[in-house]
Amino acid sequence: MDFLFTPYLVAGICAALVVACSFRLLRCSNLDHIPVVGHSSLLASYWFTKGLEVDHTERFVQEGYNKYKSGIFRVANLTHWVVCLHRSHLEHAARALEDHLSFIEAADNSLKLEHTFGLKNNDMYHVSIIQSTLTRSLSVLYADVRDEIVAACNEYLDLKHNEWKTISAVRVTLKIASRASNRMFVGLPLCRDPDWLDLNMNLPRAVVDEARILRLFPSFMVPLVAKFVTNLSGRTSRGVALLGPVIKERLQHMEAEGTDWNNKPNDFLQWCMDSKQETSLTSLTRRIISINFAGIHTTSSALFHLAENPRHAQALRDEVEVVVSKYGWTKEGLSKMRKVDSFLKETQRFEGLSILGLSRKAMSDITLADGTFIPQGTFLAFPAHAMHHDDAVYENPNVFEPFRFADMRNKEFEGSRHQMVAITPDLLSFGLGRHTCPGRFFAATVLKTMLAHIVMSYDVKRGNDESRPTTLHVGRAIVPNPTAKVMFRKREE
Ligand code: HEM
Ligand SMILES: *[C@@H]1O[C@H](CO)[C@@H](O)[C@H](O)[C@H]1NC(C)=O
Ligand SMILES: *[C@@H]1O[C@H](CO)[C@@H](O)[C@H](O)[C@H]1NC(C)=O
Repeated sequence: MDFLFTPYLVAGICAALVVACSFRLLRCSNLDHIPVVGHSSLLASYWFTKGLEVDHTERFVQEGYNKYKSGIFRVANLTHWVVCLHRSHLEHAARALEDHLSFIEAADNSLKLEHTFGLKNNDMYHVSIIQSTLTRSLSVLYADVRDEIVAACNEYLDLKHNEWKTISAVRVTLKIASRASNRMFVGLPLCRDPDWLDLNMNLPRAVVDEARILRLFPSFMVPLVAKFVTNLSGRTSRGVALLGPVIKERLQHMEAEGTDWNNKPNDFLQWCMDSKQETSLTSLTRRIISINFAGIHTTSSALFHLAENPRHAQALRDEVEVVVSKYGWTKEGLSKMRKVDSFLKETQRFEGLSILGLSRKAMSDITLADGTFIPQGTFLAFPAHAMHHDDAVYENPNVFEPFRFADMRNKEFEGSRHQMVAITPDLLSFGLGRHTCPGRFFAATVLKTMLAHIVMSYDVKRGNDESRPTTLHVGRAIVPNPTAKVMFRKREE
């Protein structure tokens, strides 16, 4: 927003920052019994990080993990203390109800859902649609998902005979995943509309930036500040302009023909509409936009690992060839691709999306099993990244071993415990317990199809640039390096 950079607002932010931090410091002084790793206060955290972008979450969490092997510790970010719990508390956190340890309040604190998405905390009916209808429809709609991935690869990679082309891995995977996801969310032709894709692909950046500012303010000021710093209405009207006509047409059908009609669309938008929870263009559009936010962050780092080592590509190709010749490109075939599955799961273990897992807010005073007192309002999390790199859990944890999970499956003669969508305390990438990611079956379907299609149709190698590392750690977030490049060449039949 233009207002954003006026001196007044900057001054306001600084003043509010000081007020907010000192409030929180006072209020949270009852965390004294929990050892601190890194900065000893929130204000110190601010001075050390000298800005909003960098902090040392990763370093401090790893340090705490090494030092307090069986205990808990806390780290400060710019605005909050985060208490990092020990593995032995996982079950407690996984089972906890919302009024005890809240998932949504923690998410809301990070993202300010009402102001960035226009969603209220108690208004999450889409979660059960993802859990049930979306997951159930994956077999039936598989051909569409694959079709969209193939079409997107052809369009975005656009390779001539024998040509090596350098491609921004992050952008291209994001675009392909967005199209595949939106084919399921809103169907053709909108899932190919460049404006719709652009809106949804740029959303995370915008939301994270807006929320970052809002978090600095005490909650009573947030609604006011949000008027100046968020662009919810801009996004919504742009979204409504694109999705609105689609919704209107479907509403007309529903009015005239009831619950079924010829060529009735079978996609997420329609399932939301069928559930009759909301009918306004604005609220339906906001819902679809927010589901895009949850759904299209993908594992582009898998591409980097593929590019790094041609040996892995060949092993994957051999597997895909055998499976496809037997089952075709089907959901059933996909479930036989153990190496593809393992490759992606290892990427999640090795890199993942966050340093922390199972972020929760304590909604009342809590005493943990080991006797530790956690006051109401405390933010809790598990040091997921450190746990995923613990040699007590994984052999050679700091080596990317693409087929480690496939090997485990083969060794133990069983089919499912180590597959990507399986939930285990050893890997927190999709969460654990009550709030386990409901979109994981869909995400795995898209990612596996994308990887399988790419190894079959292209040779991939590292770009000539030396843009390492492949991921960046920004606070608690792990993001694929946006400047890293890979090279593609079409394989000849
Ligand atoms: C590789 C892709 C994905 C990853 C790594 C991922 C990861 C996660 C994680 C870590 C959580 C929180 C779990 C917890 O704290 O216990 C979560 C929740 C959630 N995810 Fe995903 N997710 C992915 C894809 C998707 C997709 C494709 C969708 C939608 C179609 C989706 C929808 C959701 C929703 C709605 C929740 C909240 C669940 C609730 O309120 O209980 N995710 N996801
Ligand atoms: C707000 O969002 C709309 C739609 O994405 C965009 O066109 C507009 O430039 C944005 N405004 C600001 C100030 O970022
Ligand atoms: C700081 O921690 C709080 C509580 O866990 C979280 O909501 C917020 O997003 C964190 N800030 C950053 C910049 O990661």
